[in-house]
Amino acid sequence: MSQTKEAWSSRMGVILAVAGSAVGLGNFLRFPGLAAQYGGGAFMIAYFTALLLIGIPIGWAEWTLGRSGGVRGYHSAPGIFHVVMQTPAGKYLGMLGFLIPVMVFMYYVYVEAWCLGYAWLAVTGKLSAGAHFGAIFASYTGIAQDGTAVHFGLESVGFWLVICYAVNFYFIYRGVSKGIELACKWGMPLLIVIALIILGRVLTLGTPDPLKPSQNVLNGLGFMWNPQDVWAGLKNPELWLAASGQIFFTLTVGFGAICCYASYLKKKDDVVLSCLTAAAANEFCEVGLGGLITVPAAFVFLGTAGIVGMGTFGLGFNVLPAVFAQMPYGNFFAFSFFTLLFLAAFTSSLSMLQPGAAFLEEGLGLARKPALALLGLISSFGTLICWWFSKDLKALDTIDFWIGTMMIYLQGFILIIVFGWSKGMGIERGWREAHEGAAMRIPRVFKFIMQWVSPVFLGIVLLMFVLNSVFGWNFSFARPHFAPTGRITDLVGSHHSDVARLAFIFILLCVGFSVLLMHLAGKRWTANPLEKQP
Ligand code: TRP
Repeated sequence: MSQTKEAWSSRMGVILAVAGSAVGLGNFLRFPGLAAQYGGGAFMIAYFTALLLIGIPIGWAEWTLGRSGGVRGYHSAPGIFHVVMQTPAGKYLGMLGFLIPVMVFMYYVYVEAWCLGYAWLAVTGKLSAGAHFGAIFASYTGIAQDGTAVHFGLESVGFWLVICYAVNFYFIYRGVSKGIELACKWGMPLLIVIALIILGRVLTLGTPDPLKPSQNVLNGLGFMWNPQDVWAGLKNPELWLAASGQIFFTLTVGFGAICCYASYLKKKDDVVLSCLTAAAANEFCEVGLGGLITVPAAFVFLGTAGIVGMGTFGLGFNVLPAVFAQMPYGNFFAFSFFTLLFLAAFTSSLSMLQPGAAFLEEGLGLARKPALALLGLISSFGTLICWWFSKDLKALDTIDFWIGTMMIYLQGFILIIVFGWSKGMGIERGWREAHEGAAMRIPRVFKFIMQWVSPVFLGIVLLMFVLNSVFGWNFSFARPHFAPTGRITDLVGSHHSDVARLAFIFILLCVGFSVLLMHLAGKRWTANPLEKQP
């Protein structure tokens, strides 16, 4: 099999690609939603702790593993784990690095299509014209009733969904440097410029309604950032899981995407500083831009009532259009905002397809076109489920919880164990390899953190969450009390839901299918190793 050799064309290119993958809807919707929900201060303490103890160290580990596997000819997490660990079990340990990106793409692209569609609604002036924001939101997202979002006109999500699929697959088809790198090279700077313009607007809003003097920008920032009862917050395991989960999700660290991107580096390309730079760019966009735009803007015009209980997507697609409608040049700012969201989502969703495409190519020996056709077929099943079962966004939320939080968490844990402890890598070799061609040295304490602190931290948070949410333990030793959840499939949201069950079964089917694919790939790789002899 002859594989065309793909590579990044410059150091700036790979950093922008990884930053493009990291900066996404997570930064502008998920993060502000979480921070507001868990009360600014406490959440930020857990968030920055997680950034230091898992985000950055696991990022270094993943860049190093990726480059190491790539130099030996493999570009997907299963392949990279297979060649690095030198055992048939490796591919199964890397399996989620294939499954997670593909399954996140299934619903992420659905939201990406909303962004594009809303930008169009803003251009045509329809977004502010009727001012029935609730109605637009409901018909567009189908949140009120199953099946109601399935339309193909320019003013419904279907059309834009097709466009998003086409654009994403087209850029992946063009390849790593001509597709992904190109998109991120233009998309990222543009995104930052737009975000700065919107931020400037939000921060100069002052007190738009003199009759409501408390609704001003400072109080809006305070609503999000003033620490409430920090200690009570930090005692809640759910907050720690949410903060650590957000760190993984937003940095795209730990579950196969960076593995894949880093595998297109050369042996002596820097990974240490590149990882740090991409992470810093992400944090700037998340805390500095995302954290200062959505929530304060909503607060200034609508007060607390406009924010509380809106949910992450409600805030972006239901509350903010109402906010823009009250601003001078509102259509312009609405258009800019949804274009910004689209760019952020698009450069991220590319990084959900590339790992899947790379695996299907090298695991099944497919050429690019059939690999992408298969990938498109698989992911469109999931997208159809999210699109049809749109009531309360139940299908989307269920897949997001199991894949976008739990499995990401699990794969991050596996990855750092493989890096720090496996026979093929292990901390000594890993540390040495990370520093090959490195533009800076990693502070020594991180050796200890990577080997011990990151896995222990992840283990404890996961254990606490399971004890609390699954077994319903009240964390008391003196008077222990357990209230186990009845149905594991209903962990998301409190009510029993058939759609949640269906989505759960779909996830299980996908896991089964992946196991089969791993098995096939394993046969191929043992019979015919891709590994380049040095
Ligand atoms: N980091 C992205 C965000 O913040 C999400 C993301 C990008 C992602 N690539 C991924 C999530 C791959 C899962 C898998 O929105």
